[in-house]
Amino acid sequence: MTRDWLARIAGAGDLAALEAERVAALGKQGAVTALLKTLGGMSPEERQVRGPAIHGLREAVTAAIAARKTALDDAELERRLASETIDVTLPVDSGARGTVHPVSQVMDELAEIFADLGFAVATGPEIEDQWHNFTALNMPETHPARAMHDTFYLRAGEGEEAKVLRTHTSPVQIRTMQSQEPPIRIIAPGRTYRSDSDATHTPMFHQVEGLVIDRGIHMGHLKWTLETFLKAYFERDDIVLRLRPSYFPFTEPSAEVDVGYTIQNGRRVLGGSERWMELLGSGMVHPRVIAACGLDPDEWQGFAFGCGIDRLAMLKYGMDDLRAFFDGDVRWLKHYGFGA
Ligand code: PHE
Repeated sequence: MTRDWLARIAGAGDLAALEAERVAALGKQGAVTALLKTLGGMSPEERQVRGPAIHGLREAVTAAIAARKTALDDAELERRLASETIDVTLPVDSGARGTVHPVSQVMDELAEIFADLGFAVATGPEIEDQWHNFTALNMPETHPARAMHDTFYLRAGEGEEAKVLRTHTSPVQIRTMQSQEPPIRIIAPGRTYRSDSDATHTPMFHQVEGLVIDRGIHMGHLKWTLETFLKAYFERDDIVLRLRPSYFPFTEPSAEVDVGYTIQNGRRVLGGSERWMELLGSGMVHPRVIAACGLDPDEWQGFAFGCGIDRLAMLKYGMDDLRAFFDGDVRWLKHYGFGA
């Protein structure tokens, strides 16, 4: 009897068959259960004789079921391990891949072009104090240009002056003149912020600042540098610039720089001098700005310019809506030739 049960349990081919054997032996209606029930109707003497065998049978069957279950579980695990191995030699589809953003691309191009002209890249904080963003740039508190900048002010602690999100990259001029000895030749690309939003303005945008401080610097150096930069950037020798008198508190004289273009097949094509488009602001660094940085304006002169990087990217790669720059849509990037 015991040997029959043990043989059947050992022969159960899977967990379902094993469960069927368990029910047949130990279930409510099971054969072993039935034998156990017979003990109740026996005389004490008979129970003493037959009891150990019947209990022994139940224990042997229980142990056999547990052993078989372990064996079946192990076999199942082995089978899964064998079937679920990964073939690392199979070719993979890596799916969508990230790509360099046009703004980063242009920043890299600018760094390369200006490196050839001997300019280093400088940086400054995006959360700036009002002295660096305005005051040192010849914009005292009462200056109307301060209101014109649509500035984001940060909440200030008791008795502290509010910091601002820098409204332009010009505070990097100040920080560079404070921390470096002239001669200075730097560009400072980075994020800038103004409370403004439409197809050509986003609250966060990018500028690149240029600054040269040396002895005997004049407007001719400024014009040559901008021409050389823009010809290299747009990869065209026929780029023509027009300097228009303008006003910035931190440059004197100041010039707005326009670039010539024509319309071909309904599209703007840079080059020539048929039409003009405003591109950047520039001028000779104001003596007061040089003095505010602790330098002697009689000894040191310089020029500076500030240019929208997003604008530069749009012109070179043909994008027309600035807001799309910051949507992070890979289809938009691909459309303009970025990424695979
Ligand atoms: N900071 C000016 C702006 O944001 C641009 C500029 C920079 C003009 C340097 C002159 C010199 O409009």
